[in-house]
Amino acid sequence: MKKILITGGNGLLGMALRILLSKNHFKVIATGLGDDRLLNHKHIYNRLDVSKEEDCFDVLKAYNPDIIINTAAITDVDYCEENQEKCLNINAHSVNNFLSFCKKNNKKLIHLSTDFLFDGKLGPYDEAAENKPINYYGYSKMMAEKNIIHAELPNFSIIRTCLVYGYKKDSDNILMWVKRKLDKGGGLNIVDDQFRTPTLVSDLAQAILQIIKQDITGVYNISGEEYLSIFDFVCNIVKGFGFDESIINRCKSKEINQKAQRPKQSGLLIEKAKRDFDFSPTKLDVFLKSIK
Ligand SMILES: NC(=O)c1ccc[n+]([C@@H]2O[C@H](COP(=O)([O-])OP(=O)(O)OC[C@H]3O[C@@H](n4cnc5c(N)ncnc54)[C@H](OP(=O)(O)O)[C@@H]3O)[C@@H](O)[C@H]2O)c1
Repeated sequence: MKKILITGGNGLLGMALRILLSKNHFKVIATGLGDDRLLNHKHIYNRLDVSKEEDCFDVLKAYNPDIIINTAAITDVDYCEENQEKCLNINAHSVNNFLSFCKKNNKKLIHLSTDFLFDGKLGPYDEAAENKPINYYGYSKMMAEKNIIHAELPNFSIIRTCLVYGYKKDSDNILMWVKRKLDKGGGLNIVDDQFRTPTLVSDLAQAILQIIKQDITGVYNISGEEYLSIFDFVCNIVKGFGFDESIINRCKSKEINQKAQRPKQSGLLIEKAKRDFDFSPTKLDVFLKSIK
């Protein structure tokens, strides 16, 4: 039975992976900041701050995993812009705490990255597109990728994804954020000049399972296939929850005063994953019907 260590195990993807990989008979060692927030499971959970080198060393020594899936990151883009040193430390430098273990012991590293590596002028992007981040979060994720490539690991995958959503109570992802706004009865101001390929978290977890099963290596884009403005995406969600889309106010990025700039025409092309392991993301309307 292969042992898989997951970092960021309390996050949206971390939790989805814990459930999926346990069901698929892997020995899961989940790690995360603070207490375990996933209820009713039987796998191991260990507190781990990935920026603490010695703690990472101790956990790797104790469990000797075959595969590490590094989902841990500060994902609040505006927080990263205002806390650059912390953002770089956790999102980029921390990955170094896993590299020598993987290299020395021939273990696989699967690392999560983002479409925010790009400037959003020419998206959606394929795996070969030039990195030109326009905010600090994107810069930190680019530096993490560079650290991994530079380490010349025998076996690694970098998975780039985009605007991840899923129906998960207490999660801050866009779907649940919209749901909470709808439940409270508030209006929504949503930008119509930023474009993404939104990604269902269960599709992302399934793709990672395939990458493990087929021992796929290299850089892969994993996202939805529908290219939508955030406004159109949210309109679909609002209708999916049975509300009238007229409660959404269309606006422009420059009107909402965010600390960090966002790429406008971003998103990812997934032809490589479709070709190499038959990745087939769920259509948004199919997902929305499933939550009714
Ligand atoms: N969400 C997206 O739209 C998106 C898009 C592109 C790429 N990605 C990438 O995909 C990965 C997973 O994202 P997600 O959606 O699951 O985000 P998430 O829900 O924010 O999960 C990230 C997790 O990392 C944890 N974390 C933060 N600092 C840590 C530290 N020092 N040590 C250990 N854990 C730490 C967080 O802990 P707390 O919960 O305690 O804060 C959180 O549980 C990330 O690498 C992200 O950069 C996400």
